[in-house]
Amino acid sequence: MKKSLIVILVLLAVATFSTGVMAQRYVVGTNASFPPFEYVEDGEIVGFDIDLVKEIAKLQGFEVEVRDISFDSLIPGLASGSLDMVAAGMTITADREKVIDFSDPYYSANQSVLVHEESDANLTVLFGNHDVGVQTGTTGDTWVRDNLLEDEILTGELRNYDSYVFVIRDLANGNIDAAVLDKPVAETYSQNNPVNVVAEIITGEEYGIAVGEGNEELLAEINAGLEKVKNNGTMEKLIQKYFE
Ligand code: ARG
Repeated sequence: MKKSLIVILVLLAVATFSTGVMAQRYVVGTNASFPPFEYVEDGEIVGFDIDLVKEIAKLQGFEVEVRDISFDSLIPGLASGSLDMVAAGMTITADREKVIDFSDPYYSANQSVLVHEESDANLTVLFGNHDVGVQTGTTGDTWVRDNLLEDEILTGELRNYDSYVFVIRDLANGNIDAAVLDKPVAETYSQNNPVNVVAEIITGEEYGIAVGEGNEELLAEINAGLEKVKNNGTMEKLIQKYFE
């Protein structure tokens, strides 16, 4: 009786101790159709952002589990608590800042116009009766709505997609005339698909890692890790790995 009590106490102590030292695990949301920031390779979610959060996690002593969901579900996921953070090449915007919080910026980008490589279209493909593809909920989507659709500069269809993989497929098949998306990603797609970047739209965007509104503790961890990654040469290595 006494012996078993001791065994139980020891087991309890071990259990308490191990949970005490077990690293905090955070769920990271992304949309893995955005190479080289996040994409699926051999069934795994990989890319610049994934390496970046894993590096930050290692430096700050927490663990991450990455989930691939549609881009427009990422912000609701933070709000509902099903996601702890978002690493998705997400642009820091005033509208988003109202509902979520962003880390310090880690990458700058503009929008761009992508067409079929055999098309002789240029920037003017965005004017008139053409069909343009975007990913739902992105800054490219908003840009086309606000600048082209509202003023009826674009009179064709704005086609919304959950995944850029399907935007590129429809562009390659000739189902749409153009796509508007972040330039680094458009350039990456143009390396392995029959599509070309024909114009850049200077939007001056900056990407940040997002957390739920008011989650200051996690945000401080992310910013501290990000700072280290920038200062210890890792950021430069990641840029070389994915962009050169
Ligand atoms: N930077 C753009 C935005 O924030 C596009 C991001 C798309 N990211 C993705 N992982 N699909 O709206």
